[in-house]
Amino acid sequence: MKSTLRTPRKADLVRDSESHPDAMIELRGVIKQFSNAAGVFTVLKGVDLTINRGEFVSIVGKSGSGKSTLLNMVTGIDHPTYGQVVVNATDIYTGVTESQRSNWRGKNLGIVFQFFQLLPMLTLLENVMLPMDYVDMYDFDERPQRAMDLLKLVGLEKFANKLPVLVSTGQQQLAAIARAMACDPPLLVADEPTGNLDTRSADTIIQLFEQFVSQGKTIVMVTHDPSLTSRTHRNIIISDGELIDEAISRSLPQLRHRHMLEFTKIAERRTYQPGETILSRDEIVNHFFMIKQGQVDIVLQNNHSKEAVLSNLGAGEFFGEIELMRGGKSIANVRAGNKPVEVLALPRADFTRVMEESPITAEALAKIVQKRLDAHQIADRRS
Ligand SMILES: Nc1ncnc2c1ncn2[C@@H]1O[C@H](COP(=O)(O)OP(=O)(O)O)[C@@H](O)[C@H]1O
Ligand SMILES: [Mg+2]
Repeated sequence: MKSTLRTPRKADLVRDSESHPDAMIELRGVIKQFSNAAGVFTVLKGVDLTINRGEFVSIVGKSGSGKSTLLNMVTGIDHPTYGQVVVNATDIYTGVTESQRSNWRGKNLGIVFQFFQLLPMLTLLENVMLPMDYVDMYDFDERPQRAMDLLKLVGLEKFANKLPVLVSTGQQQLAAIARAMACDPPLLVADEPTGNLDTRSADTIIQLFEQFVSQGKTIVMVTHDPSLTSRTHRNIIISDGELIDEAISRSLPQLRHRHMLEFTKIAERRTYQPGETILSRDEIVNHFFMIKQGQVDIVLQNNHSKEAVLSNLGAGEFFGEIELMRGGKSIANVRAGNKPVEVLALPRADFTRVMEESPITAEALAKIVQKRLDAHQIADRRS
């Protein structure tokens, strides 16, 4: 038989060779445009993002900033105009048909929306069994028990045979989560899962997410609620289709998103080798430094040139603010710790201008300046 006549074997999705083993999600230069009569509208303007396995990540941003569009790139519900999306080591768009993607999605990720989207004519149990039927996972006879176990896990076993309308909205969302976990996916993606719930139900959902994360699942959740972002490992801010550098949002959380985005674009990225000097005592400081990676030692020197490490700063912390806000010269030596250090350096003029526009940030920084100066003086007297 000629090989050309053979029906092509259904191709498996392509493993992405560049994907890092720790990464669950990798977005590379993702651009999403929508076209309408008025022209082309760019919603995602070149997003690079890596989310590692086991991370619990929240995504926030103003309404219309592109949060749902970003999630839809990860779930394969929509597709990027340009760029690459790798999820669980699989390039989900290159050379993949819609039905392959849909099958892959069923096995690899669970999705939860703000409005639960349970099928109204099916019981909670039947709703939870649906994904297993769809991708044909688990033996037919096993499915009801597995669905029941999932409902038990979310505290709904007593309601298993009820239709969705007969339980509360919080319970409907719990059932939707049980359904999302039906095929035991390594990744759960949730778009404002608590947006339609009271505080208590929202808390139940987050506790459940925390439990999944402790079992090794990866969770990405869009939320409006600032009280939830503090419970995730990482918070990503999207502003007008662009991601804010996390070193900036962690260092200056009070800043407006548009200022954070401006800093993301202006700040210069610098790398220092272990032990390398970043600032010397008495050097004029002209930048505000935010630490992206590694640890920085703040070192004091006494009259006899003896050194003492006053403190260490890590990712999400900053230095240089004392000099920029109080006077020009560095009051200590600042050095990279025993690993390479990556910082963002923001020019003095930009820092000063934005501090004037954001009194809340200036006030928060002034408090930290005072605390650090106090610690510094005590250490100086001791040495
Ligand atoms: N299918 C679509 N067609 C045209 N424009 C869209 C479409 N989906 C989203 N948009 C636009 O993209 C922008 C971002 O939308 P979205 O990602 O839903 O924002 P968010 O979830 O942050 O509120 C909005 O201006 C929205 O109107
Ligand atoms: Mg949205």
